[in-house]
Amino acid sequence: MKLFVDTGNLKEIEALAALGILDGVTTNPTLLAKESGDYRQILKQICRTVQGPVSAEVVATDAAGMIREGRDLAGIDEHIVVKVPFTKEGVKACKTLASEGHRVNVTLIFSATQAWLAAKVGASYVSPFVGRLDDVGTTGMTLVREIVDIFDNYEFSTEVLVASVRNPIHVVEAARMGADVVTVPAAVIEQCFKHPLTDIGLERFLKDWEKAQAAKV
Ligand code: E4P
Repeated sequence: MKLFVDTGNLKEIEALAALGILDGVTTNPTLLAKESGDYRQILKQICRTVQGPVSAEVVATDAAGMIREGRDLAGIDEHIVVKVPFTKEGVKACKTLASEGHRVNVTLIFSATQAWLAAKVGASYVSPFVGRLDDVGTTGMTLVREIVDIFDNYEFSTEVLVASVRNPIHVVEAARMGADVVTVPAAVIEQCFKHPLTDIGLERFLKDWEKAQAAKV
C-alpha cells in the first residue's frame, strides 16, 4: 500500500521524504489555504521534493472551469494529479481530463456508486473519506471494503486512495482491505511510528550493554 501525506506543508513533506517512506502527497483547498505564498510555487516545490503523485484540487464548480483549472494545474509539474470533486460537473471534467492523458483524483467520495461512476470515466484515483463518514455515525471503512470489491470484480485500474484518515487503525484496516493508497496527516504518521515497548526495549538493551562494558574494565 502506498503512503501519501495529506498536507500542503513543505516542511512536513521534507521531513517524511527524508525518511524514505513517502510515495506521494494530497492537498486540498483547505490545506493549501493554511500555507503562505503562491500556491503554484508551493505545489512546484512539493513535486520536486516528493517526486511522486501530488494531488492539487480545482475550485471551479462547472465542468468547463474545472477542465481549464485542471489543465493549468497539470502544467505546473508532471507529478500533479488533478483533483476534482464528485459532482456531475466533476464527472464530466474527469472524463475530458483523463481522455487528454491527465491523471485525475475524484475526491469527496462517500458511496460505492460514486466510486464506481468515477472509475467509469477514467479516474486514476478515487478518494473515499473514511473519517468524515465515522463522524456522522457510520463506519467509513465499510465503504473502502465495498469499493475494493467492486474494482476487483471489474478489474478497474482506478486506485482506491483512502482519505480523511484520523488514526493508525484506519491505516491498518486500509492495508488489510487491499486499498492501493492511504493518505495520512503527518501527526497520524507520527503515531504509526510510536510504540512504548520499542522505547522501553531500546533503553534496556543500551543499559545492559553499558553495564556489561563497564564490568569488563
Ligand atoms: C483527501 O485528499 C483530503 O485532503 C483529506 O483526506 C480530507 O480529510 P479531512 O476529513 O481530515 O479534512
